[in-house]
Amino acid sequence: MTTTTTAPVHTSSSLRVVVAADAESAAGMAAERISALIRSRPTAVLGVATGSTPSPVYRALQTLRRTEGLDLSQASAFALDEYVGIDPRRPQSYRSVIDGEVTRSLGLDPLRVAIPDGSAPDLVEAAHAYEESIRSAGGVDLQILGIGHNGHIGFNEPGSAHDSLTRAVDLTPETRRANARFFDGGIDDVPTQALTQGIGTILRAREIVLLAFGSGKAEAVARALEGSIDRSSPASALRRHQAVTILLDKAAASMVG
Ligand code: PGA
Repeated sequence: MTTTTTAPVHTSSSLRVVVAADAESAAGMAAERISALIRSRPTAVLGVATGSTPSPVYRALQTLRRTEGLDLSQASAFALDEYVGIDPRRPQSYRSVIDGEVTRSLGLDPLRVAIPDGSAPDLVEAAHAYEESIRSAGGVDLQILGIGHNGHIGFNEPGSAHDSLTRAVDLTPETRRANARFFDGGIDDVPTQALTQGIGTILRAREIVLLAFGSGKAEAVARALEGSIDRSSPASALRRHQAVTILLDKAAASMVG
């Protein structure tokens, strides 16, 4: 892996920001961190995200699996979110994405991979059950996160309380537009709701690694790091956590400080 990294641009006792040469090297750093965790504790609990951003992390882990024998077969994983009402067999469901990009390609035991049940008849109960299953697994050791153009983490849109827990939420038109690229029918095909871990749920992870790539994320990243810590910027809540690493490419870092 190339480590043509500049020095961290911000370092506090709890939050480290690294600007990598490019997305691939940032993803490689996240994969190395996961690999180190799994080697020290094979039964570690991972928090896994979907979307374009984490895909290169999973590809880098696949490479480590092949070249270094990284073994994730005893690890557990909890997904951040799922669309409400989507058929889980559709390729756009986060169940399908996690099955393909994480469970099968990284060799996790499917019984130890959990995704919020967006098809549950009672979403309040499903949300509660999801919180309980994270808790009974001992909590998430390392959470991988992306960030939305509007600063969302998981599907916690601006306005979400920083102590929110897993719940059903409405997706903003902006988020549905951003995700339309994954759906054949465009924005009208994108579900209007999701079941997502809350910001408070995410903050319970013992360690968090957020990645952001491209100039389209620059403003959300700068607001999260330097704006006020409030509900208008869900990702700003990460500044309250004790162990966060933010891995950026140059474009995503371009409006920071
Ligand atoms: P993306 O989504 O990685 O597909 O840009 C990130 C997010 O919305 O959290």
